[in-house]
Amino acid sequence: MTALRCLVLLSGHGSNLATMIAARDSGRLPLDICAVISNRSTAPGLDIARQADIPAIFVDPANHPDRQDYDRQLSRLIQEWQPGLIVLAGFMRILSAELVNSYPGRMINLHPSLLPKYTGLDTYNRALTAGDSHYGASIHFVTPELDAGALISQAVLAIEPGDSADIMADRLQPIEHQLLVASLELFSQHTVELIDDMLHIDGKLHEKPLPLATDGHLALTSGLDQRSQSE
Ligand code: GRF
Repeated sequence: MTALRCLVLLSGHGSNLATMIAARDSGRLPLDICAVISNRSTAPGLDIARQADIPAIFVDPANHPDRQDYDRQLSRLIQEWQPGLIVLAGFMRILSAELVNSYPGRMINLHPSLLPKYTGLDTYNRALTAGDSHYGASIHFVTPELDAGALISQAVLAIEPGDSADIMADRLQPIEHQLLVASLELFSQHTVELIDDMLHIDGKLHEKPLPLATDGHLALTSGLDQRSQSE
Protein backbone atom coordinates (compact mmCIF):
# COMPACT_ATOMS: atom_id res chain seq x y z
CA MET A 1 0.00 0.00 0.00
CA THR A 2 1.40 3.43 -0.89
CA ALA A 3 1.88 5.79 2.03
CA LEU A 4 -0.46 8.74 2.37
CA ARG A 5 1.79 11.77 2.07
CA CYS A 6 0.58 14.33 4.62
CA LEU A 7 1.69 17.85 5.45
CA VAL A 8 0.49 19.12 8.84
CA LEU A 9 -0.32 22.74 9.71
CA LEU A 10 -0.52 23.47 13.43
CA SER A 11 -0.32 26.30 15.95
CA GLY A 12 -0.23 24.55 19.29
CA HIS A 13 0.55 21.47 21.34
CA GLY A 14 0.65 19.03 18.47
CA SER A 15 -0.97 16.13 20.31
CA ASN A 16 -2.71 15.23 17.05
CA LEU A 17 0.60 15.29 15.21
CA ALA A 18 2.06 13.04 17.93
CA THR A 19 -0.85 10.66 17.42
CA MET A 20 -0.20 10.59 13.67
CA ILE A 21 3.47 9.84 14.27
CA ALA A 22 2.55 7.04 16.69
CA ALA A 23 0.08 5.56 14.21
CA ARG A 24 2.77 5.64 11.53
CA ASP A 25 5.44 4.13 13.77
CA SER A 26 3.21 1.36 15.07
CA GLY A 27 2.41 0.34 11.52
CA ARG A 28 -1.30 1.08 11.89
CA LEU A 29 -1.17 3.70 9.14
CA PRO A 30 0.98 3.95 6.01
CA LEU A 31 1.72 7.66 6.58
CA ASP A 32 4.49 9.76 5.13
CA ILE A 33 4.41 12.94 7.23
CA CYS A 34 6.52 15.07 4.90
CA ALA A 35 6.57 18.37 6.81
CA VAL A 36 5.00 20.38 9.61
CA ILE A 37 4.39 24.11 9.25
CA SER A 38 3.36 26.48 12.02
CA ASN A 39 2.46 30.14 12.32
CA ARG A 40 3.83 30.14 15.89
CA SER A 41 7.55 29.77 16.56
CA THR A 42 6.89 28.44 20.06
CA ALA A 43 4.31 25.83 19.07
CA PRO A 44 5.30 22.63 20.92
CA GLY A 45 4.10 20.75 17.85
CA LEU A 46 7.22 21.98 16.01
CA ASP A 47 9.42 20.27 18.62
CA ILE A 48 7.41 17.07 18.31
CA ALA A 49 8.10 17.15 14.56
CA ARG A 50 11.83 17.85 15.03
CA GLN A 51 12.15 14.98 17.52
CA ALA A 52 10.64 12.69 14.93
CA ASP A 53 13.00 13.98 12.22
CA ILE A 54 10.16 15.60 10.33
CA PRO A 55 11.01 18.97 8.75
CA ALA A 56 9.47 21.65 11.01
CA ILE A 57 8.98 25.08 9.49
CA PHE A 58 7.91 28.31 11.16
CA VAL A 59 6.37 30.86 8.84
CA ASP A 60 6.26 34.17 10.69
CA PRO A 61 3.10 36.20 10.05
CA ALA A 62 5.03 39.32 11.09
CA ASN A 63 7.11 39.05 7.91
CA HIS A 64 4.09 39.36 5.65
CA PRO A 65 2.01 42.48 5.10
CA ASP A 66 -1.33 40.68 4.78
CA ARG A 67 -3.04 37.31 4.72
CA GLN A 68 -2.74 36.91 0.94
CA ASP A 69 1.01 37.43 1.09
CA TYR A 70 1.41 35.04 4.03
CA ASP A 71 -0.70 32.42 2.31
CA ARG A 72 1.26 32.73 -0.92
CA GLN A 73 4.38 31.85 1.07
CA LEU A 74 2.54 28.92 2.67
CA SER A 75 1.44 27.82 -0.77
CA ARG A 76 4.99 27.93 -2.10
CA LEU A 77 6.19 25.79 0.80
CA ILE A 78 3.34 23.33 0.51
CA GLN A 79 4.03 22.92 -3.21
CA GLU A 80 7.66 22.05 -2.48
CA TRP A 81 6.54 19.08 -0.42
CA GLN A 82 3.88 17.83 -2.85
CA PRO A 83 1.57 16.41 -0.18
CA GLY A 84 -1.38 14.24 -1.07
CA LEU A 85 -3.27 15.60 1.93
CA ILE A 86 -2.91 18.73 4.07
CA VAL A 87 -4.03 18.20 7.67
CA LEU A 88 -5.01 21.25 9.73
CA ALA A 89 -4.46 20.00 13.29
CA GLY A 90 -5.08 22.97 15.53
CA PHE A 91 -3.99 25.58 12.96
CA MET A 92 -5.36 28.81 14.43
CA ARG A 93 -5.37 30.97 11.33
CA ILE A 94 -7.99 31.51 8.71
CA LEU A 95 -6.67 30.60 5.28
CA SER A 96 -7.41 32.70 2.22
CA ALA A 97 -9.79 31.38 -0.41
CA GLU A 98 -6.93 31.46 -2.92
CA LEU A 99 -4.90 28.97 -0.88
CA VAL A 100 -7.82 26.76 0.07
CA ASN A 101 -9.05 26.62 -3.52
CA SER A 102 -5.64 25.37 -4.64
CA TYR A 103 -6.24 22.11 -2.78
CA PRO A 104 -9.86 21.10 -3.40
CA GLY A 105 -10.64 17.91 -1.49
CA ARG A 106 -7.06 17.65 -0.28
CA MET A 107 -7.17 19.75 2.86
CA ILE A 108 -8.93 18.57 6.03
CA ASN A 109 -9.53 20.18 9.42
CA LEU A 110 -10.20 18.80 12.87
CA HIS A 111 -12.79 20.85 14.77
CA PRO A 112 -14.00 20.36 18.36
CA SER A 113 -17.76 20.49 17.80
CA LEU A 114 -20.50 18.59 16.10
CA LEU A 115 -20.48 20.73 12.99
CA PRO A 116 -22.47 22.44 11.57
CA LYS A 117 -22.99 23.54 15.19
CA TYR A 118 -20.44 25.95 16.63
CA THR A 119 -18.02 26.93 13.94
CA GLY A 120 -15.12 29.05 15.17
CA LEU A 121 -13.98 29.30 18.78
CA ASP A 122 -15.25 28.51 22.31
CA THR A 123 -17.21 25.48 21.14
CA TYR A 124 -17.50 23.76 24.53
CA ASN A 125 -18.97 26.75 26.35
CA ARG A 126 -21.36 27.37 23.52
CA ALA A 127 -22.62 23.78 23.73
CA LEU A 128 -22.98 24.13 27.51
CA THR A 129 -24.82 27.46 27.24
CA ALA A 130 -27.20 25.99 24.67
CA GLY A 131 -27.99 23.10 27.04
CA ASP A 132 -26.92 20.51 24.47
CA SER A 133 -26.97 16.86 25.50
CA HIS A 134 -24.04 15.93 23.26
CA TYR A 135 -20.86 17.41 21.85
CA GLY A 136 -17.92 16.03 19.92
CA ALA A 137 -15.39 16.44 17.16
CA SER A 138 -15.69 16.70 13.39
CA ILE A 139 -13.30 16.26 10.51
CA HIS A 140 -14.27 18.14 7.38
CA PHE A 141 -12.90 19.26 4.06
CA VAL A 142 -11.55 22.78 4.21
CA THR A 143 -13.37 25.22 1.96
CA PRO A 144 -13.14 29.02 1.97
CA GLU A 145 -16.02 29.43 4.44
CA LEU A 146 -14.82 28.81 8.02
CA ASP A 147 -15.51 25.26 9.29
CA ALA A 148 -18.20 24.82 6.65
CA GLY A 149 -16.81 22.25 4.20
CA ALA A 150 -18.41 18.83 3.77
CA LEU A 151 -18.14 16.65 6.84
CA ILE A 152 -16.08 13.47 6.62
CA SER A 153 -16.35 11.98 10.10
CA GLN A 154 -17.65 12.72 13.57
CA ALA A 155 -17.28 11.42 17.12
CA VAL A 156 -20.09 12.10 19.57
CA LEU A 157 -19.85 12.24 23.37
CA ALA A 158 -22.46 12.93 26.03
CA ILE A 159 -22.32 16.12 28.07
CA GLU A 160 -22.34 15.01 31.70
CA PRO A 161 -23.78 16.84 34.74
CA GLY A 162 -21.15 19.18 36.19
CA ASP A 163 -19.17 19.39 32.95
CA SER A 164 -17.03 22.44 32.28
CA ALA A 165 -15.30 23.37 29.05
CA ASP A 166 -11.99 22.05 30.42
CA ILE A 167 -13.46 18.73 31.48
CA MET A 168 -15.15 18.36 28.09
CA ALA A 169 -11.93 19.16 26.24
CA ASP A 170 -9.96 16.62 28.29
CA ARG A 171 -12.55 13.93 27.67
CA LEU A 172 -12.70 14.70 23.95
CA GLN A 173 -8.97 14.81 23.25
CA PRO A 174 -8.29 11.05 23.05
CA ILE A 175 -11.44 10.63 21.01
CA GLU A 176 -10.28 13.36 18.61
CA HIS A 177 -7.04 11.47 18.20
CA GLN A 178 -8.92 8.28 17.36
CA LEU A 179 -11.11 10.18 14.92
CA LEU A 180 -8.11 11.66 13.13
CA VAL A 181 -6.31 8.33 12.80
CA ALA A 182 -9.49 6.59 11.64
CA SER A 183 -10.10 9.36 9.09
CA LEU A 184 -6.56 9.15 7.74
CA GLU A 185 -7.06 5.39 7.53
CA LEU A 186 -10.12 6.09 5.40
CA PHE A 187 -8.02 8.25 3.06
CA SER A 188 -5.32 5.60 2.85
CA GLN A 189 -7.74 2.76 2.06
CA HIS A 190 -10.39 4.45 -0.06
CA THR A 191 -10.80 7.14 -2.67
CA VAL A 192 -12.14 10.06 -0.65
CA GLU A 193 -13.24 13.02 -2.75
CA LEU A 194 -15.02 16.32 -2.52
CA ILE A 195 -17.34 16.43 -5.50
CA ASP A 196 -19.84 19.30 -5.82
CA ASP A 197 -18.99 20.20 -2.22
CA MET A 198 -20.11 16.77 -1.01
CA LEU A 199 -18.25 13.78 0.43
CA HIS A 200 -17.77 10.87 -1.95
CA ILE A 201 -16.08 7.64 -0.94
CA ASP A 202 -15.12 5.26 -3.72
CA GLY A 203 -17.39 7.26 -5.99
CA LYS A 204 -20.45 7.08 -3.75
CA LEU A 205 -22.11 10.11 -2.22
CA HIS A 206 -22.21 10.22 1.57
CA GLU A 207 -24.57 12.88 2.85
CA LYS A 208 -23.66 12.32 6.48
CA PRO A 209 -20.30 12.14 8.22
CA LEU A 210 -19.02 8.66 9.04
CA PRO A 211 -19.36 7.92 12.75
CA LEU A 212 -16.42 6.73 14.82
CA ALA A 213 -17.20 3.17 15.89
CA THR A 214 -16.23 1.69 19.24
CA ASP A 215 -13.47 -0.32 17.55
CA GLY A 216 -11.67 2.94 16.66
CA HIS A 217 -12.45 2.74 12.95
CA LEU A 218 -15.00 4.68 10.94
CA ALA A 219 -18.27 2.92 10.32
CA LEU A 220 -18.26 2.92 6.55
CA THR A 221 -21.98 2.59 5.99
CA SER A 222 -22.89 2.29 2.36
CA GLY A 223 -23.28 5.47 0.37
CA LEU A 224 -26.44 6.72 -1.26
CA ASP A 225 -26.07 4.66 -4.43
CA GLN A 226 -26.01 1.39 -2.56
CA ARG A 227 -28.81 2.39 -0.23
CA SER A 228 -31.13 3.36 -3.05
CA GLN A 229 -30.41 0.05 -4.80
CA SER A 230 -31.49 -1.94 -1.76
CA GLU A 231 -34.70 0.05 -1.20
C1 GRF B 1 -7.74 20.17 18.87
O1 GRF B 1 -8.51 20.18 20.01
C2 GRF B 1 -8.58 20.46 17.65
O2 GRF B 1 -9.91 20.10 17.79
C3 GRF B 1 -8.49 21.94 17.52
O3 GRF B 1 -7.22 22.28 17.99
C4 GRF B 1 -6.76 21.29 18.90
C5 GRF B 1 -5.38 20.87 18.49
O4 GRF B 1 -4.73 20.17 19.50
N1 GRF B 1 -8.75 22.35 16.17
P1 GRF B 1 -3.22 19.72 19.35
O5 GRF B 1 -2.38 20.95 19.06
O6 GRF B 1 -3.14 18.72 18.25
O7 GRF B 1 -2.86 19.11 20.68
